[in-house]
Amino acid sequence: MLLRAGNKKIRIASKSVRSAEMLRHILGLNERFQGIMTYAAAETAYLANQGFDDLLLAYPPPRLIDLDCLVPFWKAGKKIVIMQDDSERIKELDHFAASNGIQIAVCVDLDLSVDFPGLHFGVWRSPINRMPKLDVFLKVLKSCSNLRLAALMGYEAQIAGLGDQMPGQGLKNWIIRLLKKRALPLLRARRTAALQRIREAGFTLDYVNGGGTGSLETTSEEAGVTELTAGSGFFQSHLFDYYSGFTHRPAAGFALGISRIPKPGVFTCHMGGYIASGGVGAEKLPKVWLPEGAVLDKNEGAGEVQTPVFYTGPEQLRIGDPVFFRHAKAGELCAHFDTLHIIRAGVLSGTVSTYKSELKC
Ligand SMILES: Cc1ncc(COP(=O)(O)O)c(C=O)c1O
Repeated sequence: MLLRAGNKKIRIASKSVRSAEMLRHILGLNERFQGIMTYAAAETAYLANQGFDDLLLAYPPPRLIDLDCLVPFWKAGKKIVIMQDDSERIKELDHFAASNGIQIAVCVDLDLSVDFPGLHFGVWRSPINRMPKLDVFLKVLKSCSNLRLAALMGYEAQIAGLGDQMPGQGLKNWIIRLLKKRALPLLRARRTAALQRIREAGFTLDYVNGGGTGSLETTSEEAGVTELTAGSGFFQSHLFDYYSGFTHRPAAGFALGISRIPKPGVFTCHMGGYIASGGVGAEKLPKVWLPEGAVLDKNEGAGEVQTPVFYTGPEQLRIGDPVFFRHAKAGELCAHFDTLHIIRAGVLSGTVSTYKSELKC
């Protein structure tokens, strides 16, 4: 991932990792891993409390009261920046900051979706997708004496989070690659224009964040972007196997125990319905990893408490044996499991806890 990111820093998307110890481990691997992109206020406070700093809360909290837990950390001088995109909301945030006697650093979310005839190629998040809207936001922000514009973020979800080499989808893959190619210059122009507007309005930014696991190469080519974000690529959940631009080695998965054998060749495991978020499709299911050749039943998929696996290979599977799976997206793993067992060079070398056990999510 460092190679793919050129010379840019990588902020870690915590939503895709969900283990404080893993976040600490990744940050310690290389100085170009810097800062964390968090997803919730309580989670951000949880990390700040454990000594993490340089936190970008990238999804605006629904209620300002949600931010109460961060006030002590702002007062203590922690670098916590929060995402904003609504001109009315920032006025309220300004009051919140004033009433708490603090300054709050904000990051503006620039929507990088691209509209083609009949297709919204991107996501629905920030309303700031045109320069006049950014101008209004910046003007209001200027009048908020307790807020400071610290950063710009633009997340090109349609490049970073959309596989273009999905098995059995030849035509769709071709179309997605074409759309990505068409969208890239448009979103780059928008990001460049936004940076110019911000400069002209007299703001100096601490950082400009962009991209995700699937776009490290393309986002790192932009001079105006100072750092990238990535999360899913660390575990390399299986949806990230299907990108034409890169190949990562799988690094995480989960095991389920076989609890029943309804007939020879069918092994029903305990639990297993750890489905990825997003638009619904069979690709969001976990995949059987080992034993090789084992597959899920198309009708039952991965069940809430039981998951049948079809296998006719040479391994002699018995009740109590594990079957190994890879999850689809990244975040679901540590939202469902309490611990990660660390395997180095084939040897179990430790166990770390996940958000599920610590944040009780
Ligand atoms: C704002 C933002 N940046 C970056 C990412 C990339 O995260 P990942 O590398 O886990 O796909 C996401 C994922 O949804 C995101 O919402």
